[in-house]
Amino acid sequence: MHEFFAAAISGTEKALCEELRELGFASVRLNRGGIPFRGEMPDGWRACLTTRIAQRIQLLLGRFPVPTADSLYQAVRGIDWSPYIDRSKTLSVNAVCVGSDITHSGFAALKVKDAICDHIRATSGGRPDIDKNDPDIRVFLYLANNKAALYLDLSGEPLHRRGYGREAGVAPLRETLAATMLRLSGWDRQSPLMDPMCGSGTIAIEATMWSANFAPGLLRDTFGFERWCGFSKEDRAELKELRGELRRGVKSKTARVIACDHDPELLEKAKQNARAAGVRPAFKQRSILDLQKDEAAKFLITNPPYGVRLEKDPDFCRRFAATISRLHGWRVCLLAGSPDYERMISAKPQFKIALPNGDLKCDFLVYDID
Ligand SMILES: C[S@@+](CC[C@H](N)C(=O)[O-])C[C@H]1O[C@@H](n2cnc3c(N)ncnc32)[C@H](O)[C@@H]1O
Repeated sequence: MHEFFAAAISGTEKALCEELRELGFASVRLNRGGIPFRGEMPDGWRACLTTRIAQRIQLLLGRFPVPTADSLYQAVRGIDWSPYIDRSKTLSVNAVCVGSDITHSGFAALKVKDAICDHIRATSGGRPDIDKNDPDIRVFLYLANNKAALYLDLSGEPLHRRGYGREAGVAPLRETLAATMLRLSGWDRQSPLMDPMCGSGTIAIEATMWSANFAPGLLRDTFGFERWCGFSKEDRAELKELRGELRRGVKSKTARVIACDHDPELLEKAKQNARAAGVRPAFKQRSILDLQKDEAAKFLITNPPYGVRLEKDPDFCRRFAATISRLHGWRVCLLAGSPDYERMISAKPQFKIALPNGDLKCDFLVYDID
């Protein structure tokens, strides 16, 4: 059994914990920054293929006390690196240091890199090169209160890169954040759902994929763990088998998902993205302000404009709130990047969760409109 860590963006931990439990992973534990779970190595591969919310899946290589820089070096050098890396591979190391005698994360990363390279030089007479952009092996060190946890990344590219080469709109959401909103919203994956301000279509595409039980990793050609030294022919066959099993679980019938935007160019991008992802939400060009209460969907989830775009139209939040208040019997979920939305909507949210969108402070607001 191995211990894995599903790294999460801030605010998504609870949703990720729920997702990993639902996907059947063992010893899943709610934790800040990411969710630990346990399993055999193929469970780590399955997590890469199936999670919609985690940013990365990492394998725990060891935990050890780090009273000094030399103890960090010795502990890392003592690990058996042969299943993962040899002189022919490339390497990157990242570190985070909190409340420890080693305060400089760049220095800690350098110590780890030196220890790995010296280990490999001693066993094979050569050392791996460093590649910060597209390394074969990514190592992460978390050093907190002089205690280290060392991880090896399984994902390669972060998992929000779904592999369908998305065309970005004006302010695209990360796919993992859109998947988090969907899970937190309480959507049942069957009822009709609408994003009336869809931009590049992220929420609608993620919703359709989830409703179809379409594992997001199926769109990716490759993951980081496939570049490890120990990834054998047998492993490749087992991974192929796993991909086949997940593909057989995809449902052809999905919930009706409707994506609208008032901008025809963005809508074109959204259509292109959905085609590339292999899903088919229904697209329609129109303003949210024309939304009627008797539409097919009674479930609205969206990420309305914020920042400069709101400054250009300062009355938009009020008109948006007036439109929402007419949707009797609907559930309305917003990732609001401006407090004006909550201020203008007269109903009280059923719940509100802080959910940052990159550097932007946002609230996820969920309303049941009477
Ligand atoms: C923050 S962006 C949404 C980004 C989207 N979630 C994505 O991942 O690409 C806000 C969107 O609202 C759209 N929008 C602004 N005013 C609108 C209106 N009155 N009716 C419909 N869409 C509108 C913009 O064109 C823009 O695409």
